[in-house]
Amino acid sequence: MKNLGILLSGRGSNFEAIAKNVAAGKICDARISIVISNRTDAGGVAKARELALETLVLPSKGKAREEHDREVVAALQNHKVDLVCLAGYMRLLSPWFVKQFPHRILNIHPSLLPAFPGLEAQEQAFAYGVKVAGCTVHFVDEELDHGPIIVQKAISVLDNDDEKTLAARILEQEHIAYSEAINLVLHGAYDLIGRKLVVKSMQK
Ligand code: GAR
Repeated sequence: MKNLGILLSGRGSNFEAIAKNVAAGKICDARISIVISNRTDAGGVAKARELALETLVLPSKGKAREEHDREVVAALQNHKVDLVCLAGYMRLLSPWFVKQFPHRILNIHPSLLPAFPGLEAQEQAFAYGVKVAGCTVHFVDEELDHGPIIVQKAISVLDNDDEKTLAARILEQEHIAYSEAINLVLHGAYDLIGRKLVVKSMQK
């Protein structure tokens, strides 16, 4: 049984999708051992409590990055976390944090990276006038929205889309992509050749 640690800062819809898939056995041999938020007002924390999951709020405001990261990593280690899933965690991890979980930290980003890293990626894509948009699940490295890509999902931008409808359709894909990526990292056989993830086989 592998332990997932979820880090979030906001409403937590990606976390909820992961929790649903864990409960339904669609993410095999895994449990969510802790949900950590850096914000006291994160909706995701309330949802996690409703699901009777263990939660922890470790406010980051006013703290040096690594000082906060040390608290988060200690909590993840206390809960024997095997895989860290950033699910709308709006804080850059320090290089020290990244080193504690080599290739064991995933992030989801609402664009087809390397296009539109950073904040409000869906709005950036819409304003740019792209015809194809989507989301990316990737390993976390020291740079923002940057590590090797695990799963991407693409959708067409429709002529009658606005920023909201586009973001909503990207989010639907995020909810599918994240569980796929977790299954692959936990149960798949893959090689990482430079930035390139090559899937050899899936056990389940
Ligand atoms: C998601 O769209 C996620 O891709 C994005 O924040 C949102 C969180 O929503 N993350 C980033 O932009 C990271 N750079 P959620 O709280 O409902 O999962």
